[in-house]
Amino acid sequence: MPQAEPRKPTILIADDDRSAQEILENLLVNRGYKVICARDGREALSLVSADTIDLCVLDIDMPHMSGIDLCQHIKNDKKTQFIPVIMVTGLAPEQEKIRALETGCDDFITKPVQAAELLARLKSLLHLKAMTDALEDAESILFTLARTIEAKDRYTLGHADRVARFAVSLGRELGYPEEKLELLHKGGILHDIGKLGVPDAILQKEAALDKEEWETMRKHPVMGFEICQRLKGIKEIIPIIRNHHERLDGTGYPDGLKAANIMDTVRIVSIVDIYDALTTRRSYKVAFSQEKAFQMMKEEVERGWWDKTILKVWEGMIKKKKVE
Ligand SMILES: [Fe+2]
Repeated sequence: MPQAEPRKPTILIADDDRSAQEILENLLVNRGYKVICARDGREALSLVSADTIDLCVLDIDMPHMSGIDLCQHIKNDKKTQFIPVIMVTGLAPEQEKIRALETGCDDFITKPVQAAELLARLKSLLHLKAMTDALEDAESILFTLARTIEAKDRYTLGHADRVARFAVSLGRELGYPEEKLELLHKGGILHDIGKLGVPDAILQKEAALDKEEWETMRKHPVMGFEICQRLKGIKEIIPIIRNHHERLDGTGYPDGLKAANIMDTVRIVSIVDIYDALTTRRSYKVAFSQEKAFQMMKEEVERGWWDKTILKVWEGMIKKKKVE
C-alpha cells in the first residue's frame, strides 16, 4: 500500500544578505527541510501570514522592517504567535538582544552561523511546535465535538453558540478586557462538553428525567472537567465547565460551592445558560417568554441561586436589545 510522505517542516529564512541566506538555505534543504526565503522584513511578514511556516530564522538588520519588529508582529498575531523565531545577530549590542527577547523571540544564534548549533536549536524548537500543533488540534476537535452534542437534539441546536455569544455580550457590557471575553466565548462553547458522556436516550428524552437518569445528567460538569483538565490551552475555562451548575447559596452541583468561590465568569455563563434554556423550546418544555424567564430567575435570585447584579445587567441588555 502506498504510504503518504510525512510533511517536511517549513522554515522561513529572512535575510537581506544573499550569500548568508544561500548558505543557510543549502544547509537546511540538505537536512530535509522545506525552505522559503525573504529578502526583507516586509516580504517575510507577508509570507508568514500566507503560508504554513513552522519556524522563522530572522536576521536582525533588514530593510523595511527589522527582525525585531517582524518578530513582534509574529508574536502579537494569534494566528502566528506559536511559530518559533530564531534571531540571527551579528555583533548586536546587548540592548538590542534584550529588545528581541522582549518581543518573544525563542532563541538567538550569532553570525557566522555554526551549522551544528543552528540544527540543534532548530530541532528542539520544531519539536515544541509540533507538540503545540497537536494540542491545538485536540482543542479544535473538542470545539467540534461540543457542537455535535447539541446537534443530536434539535431543541438544543445552537445552544452552545448562543451561550457563548450572550456571555461575551454580557462581559463586554461589564467592561471586561478582550482576553476575558475570549475566555467567556470558549467557556460558553465548551460548558456542556461533558454531555458527551451522557447517553442519547437521556439527552433526548421527551419527558422529565427519573431519579437515576437525573443522577447521570448531573455528572456532565465533572465529565467535562475530566475531558478538558489536561489541555493547557483551555485551563482557564475549566471552572466554567465544572461549576456552571453551582448556585451562590451552595445548593448547586457538583461541588456545592458557595458565592465566595464562584468566579464572575462562571456566574455569567450560568445566568445566560439558564436564560437560554428557559426561553427556548426543549424536548420536555415549551419556550417561555422573556418576561416569564426573568420573573423565574428573579425568584431564584431571592432564593440565593444567581448573582443579582449580573442578572439585572443582563435583563437591561435584553430589554434594550443590546445583545450582539
Ligand atoms: Fe450544563
